[in-house]
Amino acid sequence: MNRSVVILGVQWGDEGKGKIVDLMTRHSKYVVRYQGGDNAGHTIFLNEKKLVLHTIPSGILYEGVLNLIANGVMISLKSLSEELESLESHGIDAENRLAISGSCFLVLPHHVAIDRARERREGSKIGTTLRGMGPAYEDKVARRGLKLSDIFHVKYFQKRLKEIIDFHNFHLVHYYHSSSIDYQKTLEETLYNSKRILKIVKDVSEILHKAHKRSEPVIYEGAQGAMLDIDQGTYPYVTSSNTTSGGVSLGSGIGPKRCIGHVLGVVKAYSTRVGLGPFPTEINGPIGKYLRKRGMEYGSTTGRPRRVGWIDILMIKKSIECNSISSFCLTKLDVLDGVETIKICVSYQNKQGKRIYTIPSSSEDWKNIEPIYEILPGWKRSLYKTRDYCLLPKEAISYVNRIEELTGISVCIISTGPSREDSIIIKNPFHR
Ligand code: GDP
Ligand code: IMO
Ligand code: MG
Repeated sequence: MNRSVVILGVQWGDEGKGKIVDLMTRHSKYVVRYQGGDNAGHTIFLNEKKLVLHTIPSGILYEGVLNLIANGVMISLKSLSEELESLESHGIDAENRLAISGSCFLVLPHHVAIDRARERREGSKIGTTLRGMGPAYEDKVARRGLKLSDIFHVKYFQKRLKEIIDFHNFHLVHYYHSSSIDYQKTLEETLYNSKRILKIVKDVSEILHKAHKRSEPVIYEGAQGAMLDIDQGTYPYVTSSNTTSGGVSLGSGIGPKRCIGHVLGVVKAYSTRVGLGPFPTEINGPIGKYLRKRGMEYGSTTGRPRRVGWIDILMIKKSIECNSISSFCLTKLDVLDGVETIKICVSYQNKQGKRIYTIPSSSEDWKNIEPIYEILPGWKRSLYKTRDYCLLPKEAISYVNRIEELTGISVCIISTGPSREDSIIIKNPFHR
């Protein structure tokens, strides 16, 4: 029996995946990150204390659950070490609940330097998190990346690091007119920061393979969202990994039939995105400000204000198809409290007045379209922290039902506040 639940973002990230993974972890034995890196920022709460996780899976608060960082994740050793220390300072025994694959590729200082240099140039600006993610994935695909397990072979690691830094310094200095990266300093820092991490290197694929053979429950935790997927997203304004469910298999070393069980798509009750790129339903006026303030829509990793907009059914449908979504978790419904009328984008229209029902492919096509909305009444009463479906205002239930009708996917969890308890579980994805 397949008892895996993939929990991933349906929109442009920050849908509340961390909260939902934390909520669902009590039903699981393993929580696995399989792509992205410390560009992610997943918020969870330990009692009243807010914790933001970047590379460590969101199951880390539970004793007896093994959190796994699988091969598809990019590792910044410094950032991961700091994250471990931060969790320990909150009394969480993180190191003993965590294992990491030696096949993870490293994010090194030259990756961050290149990311920064590109973001300084108007022509190549994406609005990245400046964590070096793009350049690190590029090195992997160019077959010049370094893996965590390479550090066990110090001589080999030194030689390769020198070659790679020389290669990138040429570009940094001569093309980007930036400072070069110091090889010796990078080597020393990398070896120093790797000390703790190397102790928890394990064969993650093998652990997962055995877990699946024993039919144990596993959560695969996505980072970013489907619209930021390198292949399926709003390219080039995307991240550099496969954030959709296909990435689970590639990023964990487990065949798709084994690792992709139930796919729980986390959808925010409105839309947000950080960084540049198309956003047809973006709200620029006072309602946008209202939602940003109520939803505290500021980046968990960078602190940047998130752009805010109405929910977009076309994007969601695309996401359903490319992820094989089984059910939805609708988050932040409480943030819409007090909005007089709520809009749902049901199609686009081009400048010639032609209706469009699919997502454009070229970034140029986006300039030509505007959203067509269906309008629903809002609700006045606050549903913040509501834990019982029957207590939801009838307008909120109509909104949820309309999303289900338009997408053909059932909402099985509704989230009404940031803490684990602020949730309405209509149907548990582990009980199927
Ligand atoms: P992630 O990257 O998908 O894990 O999402 P983030 O943690 O970056 O952003 C989601 C933000 O919304 C966090 O501050 C959460 O604490 C908060 N949050 C999650 N679910 C809810 C909810 O249902 N209602 C409210 N008001 N806040 C929520
Ligand atoms: P979580 O997991 C929202 C966005 C960046 C930028 C683009 C590329 O918290 O949902 P990158 O640094 O990856 O090269 O940036 O992707 N981005 C995110 N947006 N949530 C995230 O993660 C994101 N991770 C990257 O803002 O637009
Ligand atoms: Mg986030």
